[in-house]
Amino acid sequence: MNAAKLRLDEDTHRLFAGLIENRTGLQFFDEAGYMNLQASVSVQMEKADFEQPLEYYDLIRSPEGQESFRSLVEELTNSETSFFRNLPQFEALIQHLLPKLIQARESSRRLRIWSAGCSSGEEPFSVVMALLEVIPFPGNWKIEVVATDINSQILWKARQGIFSGRTFKAMPQIYSQKYISQRIDRQYEVLPYVRQYVDFRRANLMEELSPFDGQCDLILCRNVMIYFRQPAIQKVLSKFRRALAPDGYLLVGHAENPNNYSDDFAPRQVGDAFVYVPTKKDVATPALKPSHAEPVEKSDPPLKGGNLPPGRPRVLRSEEKEETLKKFISTARYAFHHNRIQEAEELLETLFEEDRIPASAHVLMACLLVTTNREEQAAQHVKTALEEDEFCAEAHYLQGLFELDRKDHERAMLCFKHSIYSDNQFPLSYFQLARLFQDKGDYKKAAMRYQNALRALDGPSKEIWSDLFTGLSPQLVRQACLTAIELCERHV
Ligand SMILES: C[S@@+](CC[C@H](N)C(=O)[O-])C[C@H]1O[C@@H](n2cnc3c(N)ncnc32)[C@H](O)[C@@H]1O
Repeated sequence: MNAAKLRLDEDTHRLFAGLIENRTGLQFFDEAGYMNLQASVSVQMEKADFEQPLEYYDLIRSPEGQESFRSLVEELTNSETSFFRNLPQFEALIQHLLPKLIQARESSRRLRIWSAGCSSGEEPFSVVMALLEVIPFPGNWKIEVVATDINSQILWKARQGIFSGRTFKAMPQIYSQKYISQRIDRQYEVLPYVRQYVDFRRANLMEELSPFDGQCDLILCRNVMIYFRQPAIQKVLSKFRRALAPDGYLLVGHAENPNNYSDDFAPRQVGDAFVYVPTKKDVATPALKPSHAEPVEKSDPPLKGGNLPPGRPRVLRSEEKEETLKKFISTARYAFHHNRIQEAEELLETLFEEDRIPASAHVLMACLLVTTNREEQAAQHVKTALEEDEFCAEAHYLQGLFELDRKDHERAMLCFKHSIYSDNQFPLSYFQLARLFQDKGDYKKAAMRYQNALRALDGPSKEIWSDLFTGLSPQLVRQACLTAIELCERHV
């Protein structure tokens, strides 16, 4: 069997999911988890050149297979994050928690902060910026911020301190003006003055010891335990309890509530945020449930068909849902490109039961329908793709192809122009436009468009383009462009 045909049966899925949960706390037993796991195992098996899932399983659970196990986990983790994510928590930090801690540590002038599950670093960098705003004479303090994550690749990115614009959307301007600089490549860099405070380390919350035993002033573990089930959450919470100073604070994600699992922490409302403080060890504190800890499914329902695990009301949050959608589309794309048309179609149909599915999924479905001669249905999906995203270059391109089939060359030309307007790096629309100009005898314009197509073919490509290249490889297009340019130049 080839990894391309991978389908994990129930027992094999359980083996993989069990091993991963055991070692990392991450659960993949529900339906979305199954899809994630199947797609990621498939990618990793292909990379490692394995054909049998059980052989690959034997590798990742063996001592020699630790690197392969890590790669699989890195493929599986959701690393969504942003600067100043959950602003009310940062307001609570700036106005109350940090000033209180600064006052309490005045004699030692030492502060210890742990960002657990820090992803690409936005969270610890935001905390440092907040701290620098409130601490008088930071040079007189020993400030230690340890940021840990299980994913070494994401930590590599974090250490660079370079980010693109979207991640700054919640960052108040005073911070971006002071601590961020724009680079010539239009990326943004966190200034070394901030970066110097953060020590990034790879650590698995289920295994490694806490960086500060009993002396940590502030722990942030936000949007990490949401992927765990009860035993793992309890293990992590008792680790945090041991790590935290008696007057320290724990911050978790807004959909997470430690009191559902442990009486080690008590909630405190600070402004519009909830924070957690360690309960006194000798006094049994009843588990309190702050009203904010309502599950978020009211505004953000889980994907249909989700077989949710027991233990807690697990819900798919919007970022998790987005991640799942991406994996779903990738799995369908994978099936489509490996000629498993029915499987791809079924996957996409399941997806379309949801509202607001990305344009790319409709484009993929349209391609699939065209290959099976169902043009009318395909046209409907192209229309929906454009309703979702009027700048979907690939959908405009497909519409152009439909117009060509109808022999309406003027309209086709307009569609290809729309497509290029939406994405001026999309080679196929340049190619088709060039052919239309050539047919009209406008060789100069044709040659120019062929040149543009060649340039675009040399640039970075998008995954979705592979759907549109079926039966027409980039090499063939390149060759056709070169031949056509020669021909056009003879006429000019
Ligand atoms: C969704 S991100 C959250 C990032 C950040 N805390 C925030 O709220 O913006 C979750 C992170 O937790 C990490 N993670 C998941 N399981 C982990 C484990 N067992 N040990 C350490 N990190 C883990 C993932 O690699 C990922 O980077």
